[in-house]
Amino acid sequence: MNIWRGQFFSLAVVAAGCLLTGCNQSSPGPNAGGDVIKVGEYGSLTGSEATFGQSTHKGIQQAVDEINAAGGVLGKKIELHTEDDQSQAGQAATVVRKLISSDGVVAMLGEVASSRSLEAAPICQQSGIPMISPSSTNPKVTEVGDYIFRVCFIDPFQGTVMANFATKTLKAHTAAVLTDVKSDYSLGLAKFFKEQFLASGGKIVDEEKYSGGDKDFNAQLTAIKAASPEVVFVPGYYTEAGLIALQARQLGINVPLLGGDGWESPTLIPVGGKALEGDSFSTHFSADNTSPEVQTYLTTYKKRYNETSDAMAPLGYDAMMILADAIKRAGTTDGAKVRDALAATKDFKGVTGNITIDPNRNASKSAVILTITNGAIKYIQTVAP
Ligand code: PHE
Repeated sequence: MNIWRGQFFSLAVVAAGCLLTGCNQSSPGPNAGGDVIKVGEYGSLTGSEATFGQSTHKGIQQAVDEINAAGGVLGKKIELHTEDDQSQAGQAATVVRKLISSDGVVAMLGEVASSRSLEAAPICQQSGIPMISPSSTNPKVTEVGDYIFRVCFIDPFQGTVMANFATKTLKAHTAAVLTDVKSDYSLGLAKFFKEQFLASGGKIVDEEKYSGGDKDFNAQLTAIKAASPEVVFVPGYYTEAGLIALQARQLGINVPLLGGDGWESPTLIPVGGKALEGDSFSTHFSADNTSPEVQTYLTTYKKRYNETSDAMAPLGYDAMMILADAIKRAGTTDGAKVRDALAATKDFKGVTGNITIDPNRNASKSAVILTITNGAIKYIQTVAP
């Protein structure tokens, strides 16, 4: 009863306000009329994929500060509301609900891991809150609905890139695949890699599984060793990838391990060490890129955080910049109008490349392949879509 009375009371106040000021037809949202634009961010700031969330947050924060220093958007400052989902299933939905209903954000940035983006996307879609994932690559994420966007490539492309690298650059004929069955990202990337590897005439000699969080991979690696593949594809996240590399070398598996963007982390080499020597993975961005946009971004990032940027930070940066650009073009923070402006994003000059949002709300962009040589990550090639 009390709640009803409260709701009726606020409706009455809004209606009275409309009489006085003349309200916009489109629903104003909880943030309308405020002197800031509230943007939500949900990410893994702690837990097993902590570097994903932390790096992305640094990139987003850098973008917010640059936007605000230049006067903000529609004459208002961006106010970033960040929530930690602790890298845990279930938490992404909880914090995103909170950001929408308590904080009143008008748009959402996140997540990195596809499974967590898939968890939160239906909530954003149903609430009419545009969501941009900086770096979730599983195709299903944007299929959730027309409010869900991303600024990165998707895994059918990434899987093809790594299968071609295996067959064409490394001249491999056989591969084993070790998949994290708890991760939508890993399951999808494994599938797309296999399809292209087979289409190129290669043979998958063994397929093994693990669950994110596992620490002992000896059983799977023993089976892989017995199948003698020429490469092992490990489409997982960095924590497990580092351990898998260590245990593979201990068992005497000396062929290259290959991975995708999930390997991208400042802690990959500290965990895997020498065991990663000669291994390669695909990702979104290389700090070796000499273009002026990338170099300016890297200099600012280095000055601010005193470290070299990985791929997640610039994707976070680009996601925030694209959102600000869309709000500016929409001339409002109204969800449907921002959604339409995002969908119309064309040739946006991002740090991670030129971004055009395609009809499926994905970005078609190049991938880079990096190799671990002498304990450092080296750029080796760029593959255009
Ligand atoms: N693409 C991964 C996923 O969808 C996440 C990721 C992005 C990891 C970028 C590292 C770098 O789950």
